[in-house]
Amino acid sequence: MKTLNVAIIGYKFMGKAHSNAWLQAARFFDLGVKLNLKLACGRDEAAVQKFADNWGWEEIETDWRKVVSRDDIDVVDISLPQHLHYEVALEAAKQGKHIFCEKPMCFTVEQALEMLAAAEKSGIVHYLNHNYRRTPAVQLARQLIDQQKVGKIFHWRCAYQQDWIVDPDFPLTWHLQKETAHAGPQWDLNSHSVDLARFLVGEIQSVTCLTSNFITRRPLAGAGAATFSSGTANSEEMGEVTVEDAALMMVQFEQGAIGSFEATRFATGCKNHLTFEIYGSKGSMRFNLERMNELEFYSLEDDGENQGFRTIMVTEHSHPYISHWWPPGHIIGYEHGFVHAVADFISAIHTGTKIEPNFEDGLKCITVLDAGLQSAASGSQVKLTH
Ligand SMILES: NC(=O)c1ccc[n+]([C@@H]2O[C@H](COP(=O)([O-])OP(=O)(O)OC[C@H]3O[C@@H](n4cnc5c(N)ncnc54)[C@H](O)[C@@H]3O)[C@@H](O)[C@H]2O)c1
Repeated sequence: MKTLNVAIIGYKFMGKAHSNAWLQAARFFDLGVKLNLKLACGRDEAAVQKFADNWGWEEIETDWRKVVSRDDIDVVDISLPQHLHYEVALEAAKQGKHIFCEKPMCFTVEQALEMLAAAEKSGIVHYLNHNYRRTPAVQLARQLIDQQKVGKIFHWRCAYQQDWIVDPDFPLTWHLQKETAHAGPQWDLNSHSVDLARFLVGEIQSVTCLTSNFITRRPLAGAGAATFSSGTANSEEMGEVTVEDAALMMVQFEQGAIGSFEATRFATGCKNHLTFEIYGSKGSMRFNLERMNELEFYSLEDDGENQGFRTIMVTEHSHPYISHWWPPGHIIGYEHGFVHAVADFISAIHTGTKIEPNFEDGLKCITVLDAGLQSAASGSQVKLTH
């Protein structure tokens, strides 16, 4: 059996989620290839060694350029903050490595175009990790749309709400600075939401957006501060928050529907509260990531007196991906979407096919998000040409 050597760059939140997925995919799916967790990379040698020991990565490296230029590496997993995705992905593509890249893809439409061109030129498999697409309930939503159970879609309503920076003492991590994050929840959260909207409804043709800041200065972050994990600052010195704290977009879809996207890290009490609602001529659907094994469905085809939203427990073996896991009702969680992504990514490499979302999807997503920032700056609607 062929072996694929994987290298991961970045070892914190996504580093862990991805390492788990590389391990579990081979155990729960028949991949047709052997995965070898070859190399883990981070700048702090001791910390990356500890990470590698914990997850079973064979070797470590502190310079990402050495990782992507190694002949024995087949796959590069980019689990880095988004200011590094462009540079690392371009180099990895040039070196002919298959790329498993975290979202949001990059900072600008121009960078996305370059990344896509480099990946296509090398003929590699490129994947952008909008993992929520691979939640069984989201896949079921897609199936119901394909089966004409929802009819013509009129409305998309989406909110991605978190609360991890409500505390004014939460430090100025990389997420809150333009140089490292490019934007706030418009990039971080709405990238996921726009990907879901494109997957379920279709392309977006115009955007109107409003952004706001609630806390403009924060204590500087200490070394190692990362997502969700550093509620207290290690410094009394203050710095400026240079990205928005919340974003609200209204869009028109090419197929005629209208939609809204709310993205914030200031929704007190909402931890990872991603919800969407779809209203169509024959039915409707509602999803909440915090209850991710369920999909609510309303059908106008039900008898009049029996009509009403039903909650489908998406844990039957006939549901997407579920036959690889547990008996019905034995729910799955956040990490499973990553495992599904790895399994599909490896299958694409093995069979020489494409996987979605990929850099082309990322380009379309960044185009929408960028139009949102333009609209927020100008106060006017921005029309898109894909
Ligand atoms: N798909 C999802 O559900 C999801 C969830 C969270 C984050 N993300 C995305 O994943 C990416 C990483 O986010 P995270 O939460 O894991 O961040 P993090 O801060 O927890 O980890 C970032 C890692 O990158 C390393 N790093 C930074 N600069 C480096 C460099 N020059 N060379 C080598 N290593 C370097 C850090 O040391 C750390 O290990 C971001 O783009 C983020 O938007 C995706």
